[in-house]
Amino acid sequence: MGKTIIISNRLPVQLQISNGGITAIPSVGGLATGMKSVHSGGDSLWIGWSGLTDEEIPEELAPKIDEALAKHGSSKVKLTKNQVDGFYFGFSNRTIWPLFHYFLEYSEFELDYWNVYKDVNQKFADTILQNASDEDTIWIHDYQLMLVPQMVRNERPDISIGFFLHIPFPSFEIFRTLPWREEILEGLLGSDLIGFHTYDYERHFLSSVRRLLGLEVSFNDIYLDNRIIKVDSFPMGIDYKKFSNAAQEHSQKKPEKQSDLQQRLDKHKKSTPDGKFLLSIDRLDYSKGIAKRLNAFEYFLNKYPQYKEKVRLIILAVPSRSNVPQYQLLKKEVDELVGRINGELATVNWTPIWYFYRSLPFDSLIDLYTSCDIAWLTPLRDGMNLVAKEYVATRTDQTGVLILSEMAGSANEMNESLLINPNNFEQIADTLYTAINMPKEEQQARNKVLQKRLERYNVEKWANSFMSSLRAQKNLDAANISKRMTDHLLNGILKDYSVAKKRLLFLDYDGTLAGFHNDPQKANPDQELYQLLDRIHEQEDTEMYLVSGRDKETFTRWFLPKKYNMIVEHGVWISKDGEPFRMLENVKNDWMEKIRPVLESFVDRTPGSFIEEKNYSIAWHYRKTDPDFGNLRATELNTVLTSLIGNDDISVLNGNKVMEVKSSNVNKGRATVRVLGEDEYDFVFAIGDDWTDEFMFQELPKSTITVKVGQQKTQARFFVENTKKVRELLSRFAIKK
Ligand code: ADP
Ligand code: G6P
Repeated sequence: MGKTIIISNRLPVQLQISNGGITAIPSVGGLATGMKSVHSGGDSLWIGWSGLTDEEIPEELAPKIDEALAKHGSSKVKLTKNQVDGFYFGFSNRTIWPLFHYFLEYSEFELDYWNVYKDVNQKFADTILQNASDEDTIWIHDYQLMLVPQMVRNERPDISIGFFLHIPFPSFEIFRTLPWREEILEGLLGSDLIGFHTYDYERHFLSSVRRLLGLEVSFNDIYLDNRIIKVDSFPMGIDYKKFSNAAQEHSQKKPEKQSDLQQRLDKHKKSTPDGKFLLSIDRLDYSKGIAKRLNAFEYFLNKYPQYKEKVRLIILAVPSRSNVPQYQLLKKEVDELVGRINGELATVNWTPIWYFYRSLPFDSLIDLYTSCDIAWLTPLRDGMNLVAKEYVATRTDQTGVLILSEMAGSANEMNESLLINPNNFEQIADTLYTAINMPKEEQQARNKVLQKRLERYNVEKWANSFMSSLRAQKNLDAANISKRMTDHLLNGILKDYSVAKKRLLFLDYDGTLAGFHNDPQKANPDQELYQLLDRIHEQEDTEMYLVSGRDKETFTRWFLPKKYNMIVEHGVWISKDGEPFRMLENVKNDWMEKIRPVLESFVDRTPGSFIEEKNYSIAWHYRKTDPDFGNLRATELNTVLTSLIGNDDISVLNGNKVMEVKSSNVNKGRATVRVLGEDEYDFVFAIGDDWTDEFMFQELPKSTITVKVGQQKTQARFFVENTKKVRELLSRFAIKK
C-alpha cells in the first residue's frame, strides 16, 4: 500500500530564525491544527512552505531547514520573497480569500498575482511528482493550491487525488466575477474527490461547474469524458480527546502549578463572584467580524447597563497576514475600538475588554477555554470555525454557553448553541443576556448533545471518511476503466468484424456521430462524416442503420440520397436502400393535441427552451436554458406529464437536455430487434449516447457489441469518451480488408 501525501501551503510548524538557529513553532489556523492530528497518526508525508523565504535563510542554515521539517514528517517547497508576495499575500489572500468570503470590494484582480499563483502551484505540483509513486494517495488542501490537482493529473493520469477546501465556496453570482474562474474550476477537476465543509459550499461549486464549464452533473458526480469526479461534504471535526483530556488535567492542577494567566483569571473571578467572562478567539481577520463584535459589546452594555462592572470580554486576536493592507487597517480599527470602548466605559475596578494581540501556547488556550463562561464567536463568514468546537470540548462539567454566528460552517452541526446573525445587534445583545442568565441545567443539556456529536465525528473520523470515499471513487474508476474501449479490446472486436459473414450496425446520430448544437437543425452531417459512413455503407455483407429520434423529414434531406438505412422517430419509421420511409410501428398521434399546450406553457416560462414537433412525438428542448433552471423545470414538467398521461399508451423520455413524449410501444430497442429478426447476423454492433439508446443496449442480444458515448451509468458493455472517439472507432471498421 502506498503512503498518503498531504499538501498544503502551511505546514504543521512554521520555521523561524532566532539567535542564529532555527526554531519551529506550531502553526495556527484550522487547516494546520486539524490535519496535524491526522498526520501524526499515520504513514504520511506533509509537503508545504516552511514560512521562510529563500532570501531569509542564510546559507549555513539551509541544511538545517530540512532537518527541522523532517522531525515533523514534513518536506518543503522553496519560495522566494517575490513568489510569497504574489502567490500568498497576493492572489491567495488579496483575491481568493476576500472573494470566497463575500468581501467582493476587497478582492483585487491582478494579472501579476495570477501569474505567480500559477507558477507556485506548478512548483507544489512538481514537488509532489518528485515524491509520489503511483500507489500513493495525494491529498491537496485549500484555496492556495487549487490548480495543483490538474497539474499532477497531467503527469500521472491514474494517481489518486483528493482535494479539500477549508473555506467557503461562494455562490455562482460571486464566483463568476473572477477573471480566471474557468482555470480555477479546471484545476480542481484534476481531483477524483473534492470535499467541502458544508452542503451549501458543495452546491455552489456544482452550480459553477455546470454553468461555467457546461459539464454534466448528476447528483454530486461530475462527468468528464473519461472520468467521474465526486463532490461531497465532510464537516471537519477536532481532536476531541486532545482538548477534553487537556481540560481534565487542567482541572486537576494544584493552584501553585497553574499558569500566571490562570491565576489572574481566578483572582478576577473571586473578586466578582457574579461576574462573567466572555471569550472570543480568532485570527485577526476581517471575515471573523471582530470589529462588529466590539461594537455589539458596547451596544449590549448600553442596553443592559446592569452588566457593567460584571461582564468582561477577553479578545484573543492572533496576528495573521499582516503584509496585506486590509489586515493592517483592521488591526488599526480594532486597536482604536478597544481603546475607545475601554476609555469610555472602564471604571477603577473594571476594564470591559481585555485584548491580546499575539499567538498563545496551547496551555493558555486551555486556560481561557476552561475559565470563560461564554464563548462568543461572530464571524461574518467562516468556512468552519474550529474554535467553537474546541470550546465545547473543553467544558468537562458541561457548563458554558456557546454563541455562534449562523455564517460559520460549524453552525450547521451546532444547533444546540445560541445561533445569531452577526449583523443584528439587537439579537446579539438579547442573546448575550440569555447566555448570562441561562440556568446551569440548560447549559449542561445543550453541551451534552454537542459533546457527544463532536466526540463521535472527530477529526480522525473526518479524515477517514474522506479517505474511504476517495478510495471508493478510485475503485469505481477502475471498474469503469475495464469497460473503456481500449485498443486491446477494439483489436479483438475488429478481428470478429473482419471474419463475420453478415454484420449489422446500429448508429445513433446526435451525441454519437455528431456533436450537439443549440439549434438541432444546425447539427447537420459534415463531409468527413459522410465519407466515413459511405465507406462502411459500401462494404459487402454489412448493414448499417442510423437510428435516431429525429423526424423523418430531416433524415430524408440529409441521408436518403445516400441510401443509408434509417430508423427515425425512435422507431416509428424505417427506410431501407434509399426507399422512402414507411411505418414500422402502427402508432397514434391524436394525444399530441393535449400535450402541446402543456409544453407551450413551459416554453413561455423557460427562456431559451423550445418545442420540436415530429409526426408521432413531441419534444421540449432545454439545452439553451440556464442549466440549473432548465433541470428544475424538466423535473417539474416530468411530474406534470406523468400525472397527465396516466395509463395512456404514451410515455416520457428523458434525453440529453430534451424531454420527449411519444407512444409507449415505440422505442429504439423494439425497432432494432425487429430488424435483427429479418436475417441471420453474426456480428451486431450498437452505439449511442443517451437514455433513449439504452433501449437498444437492453433489448439487443447479450452478444451484441454495445457502446456508450461518455462515461455514465449504462447497460452498454463498453464506452468511448466522445464523438471524436466514435469516429476513430468507426474508421477502423471502415478500413476492414
Ligand atoms: P481559521 O482556520 O480561520 O483560523 P478556525 O477557528 O477554524 O479558524 O481555526 C483556528 C485554529 O487555530 C484553532 O484550532 C485554534 O485552536 C487555533 N488557534 C487559534 N488561536 C490560537 C492561538 N493564539 N494560539 C494557538 N492556536 C490558536
Ligand atoms: C484558514 C485557511 C488555512 C490557513 C489558515 C491560517 O484556516 O483555510 O489555509 O492556513 O487560515 O492562515 P495563514 O495565512 O496564516 O496560513
